[in-house]
Amino acid sequence: MEGFDVVVIGAGAAGMMCAAEAALRGRRVLVLDHARAPGEKIRISGGGRCNFTNLGVHPSRFLSANPRFCISALSRYPPADFIALLDSAGIAWRERTLGQLFLEGSARQVVDLLVRRMTGAGAELRLSTPVRDLVRLETGFRLTLDAGEVAADRVVLATGGKSIPKMGATGYALDVARGFGLALVEPRAGLVPFTLAPDLLERLSPLAGVSAPARVRAGGAAFDESLLFTHRGLSGPAVLQASSYWREGEAVEVDLAPGVDLLAHLKTERGRAGRQSPAALLSARLPARLARTLAEGAAAPPRLGDCNDAVLSRLAASVNAWTFRPAGTEGYRTAEVMLGGVDTRELDSRTFEARKVLGLHIIGEAVDVTGWLGGYNFQWAWASGWAAGQAV
Ligand code: FDA
Repeated sequence: MEGFDVVVIGAGAAGMMCAAEAALRGRRVLVLDHARAPGEKIRISGGGRCNFTNLGVHPSRFLSANPRFCISALSRYPPADFIALLDSAGIAWRERTLGQLFLEGSARQVVDLLVRRMTGAGAELRLSTPVRDLVRLETGFRLTLDAGEVAADRVVLATGGKSIPKMGATGYALDVARGFGLALVEPRAGLVPFTLAPDLLERLSPLAGVSAPARVRAGGAAFDESLLFTHRGLSGPAVLQASSYWREGEAVEVDLAPGVDLLAHLKTERGRAGRQSPAALLSARLPARLARTLAEGAAAPPRLGDCNDAVLSRLAASVNAWTFRPAGTEGYRTAEVMLGGVDTRELDSRTFEARKVLGLHIIGEAVDVTGWLGGYNFQWAWASGWAAGQAV
């Protein structure tokens, strides 16, 4: 039987980082992936430009049942370390909004860099290689592959989350963890568009394609970014961010004019310029189609001067405090991440080793740590992969 110090299952962001670090430390490393190509999510990320980290990385920007778990890895492998890696390879990047760092060129450069780094250090990569069985032995593990068996002192589960199954995403790490008796935090789709109930969708679907700056609140969190109406519901960064905090059945609140007391503004304008239409007034702040829909929804008369206080209150509320209950989310089909995963109480936060299954490490999105939109999830993958890579 072939033997390795470390077998990493999953050649994604976390797995390749871990494999490179372990190989650089002289470990004999084998990396297995069932896909035909490594790092597929990296390749398509950030619209093909890979939003690889965020300058605002802070534990408060990660969701987990145990918010302190991420602190160790994030502080030991900060964004500056990944930036230095790109710089050393001559890969150009730039900051966009909100501290988000993207490549100037293709995201493929990151995949190529990670592959080069781990194979250059001696790690072996086998693609199109599913693991048929993983058994714990008295010391180490035995993996059954189609081509035969492999022995490993340590195994790293780096198979990511369940989002976008069409790209080969699976719940493999969760199944293995469950099989070894480790607790899970119920997984669910995160950074995902909301779907709407049929009556609301009928009213809003004509707005498909309209986008507006908004403050979207769900589950006690609020995000000021843009909101996008779609044919199926609501999307856009503010909605995706809020979706990670939303729970089935809860209400979501949207403020389409954050920081503006619209009722006071409407009343002032009614006295000052009553001949204008409410829709025209709103369209100074909002896209015209959205302004018209809101004025119709509030049953506002054609002239602002003819709107009584009740109408103005309705209109202002529909802009400043539009509250609705999503029918659900688009689910893993389009979600950018999986929330939940292997319960962090099962893992050592420095080494990512399972306390009950020594020699088994679990990293990346499979663990119950999920970042905000904006490069945080890759930073978690790099940091957790790096930390495990020092320990295996
Ligand atoms: P990742 O998913 O990267 O890797 C898992 C690997 O395991 C894959 O290669 C897969 O083929 C393999 N695998 C799965 N099941 C297996 C099995 N049963 N056997 C063998 N191999 C298996 N984040 C961010 O910070 N900035 C961004 O710009 C984006 N953009 C983005 C766009 C889109 C469309 C998506 C879906 C996601 C993002 N993300 C993102 C999120 C980011 O891609 C994600 O959080 C990380 O890739 C997670 O890294 P992991 O290494 O944990 O899993």
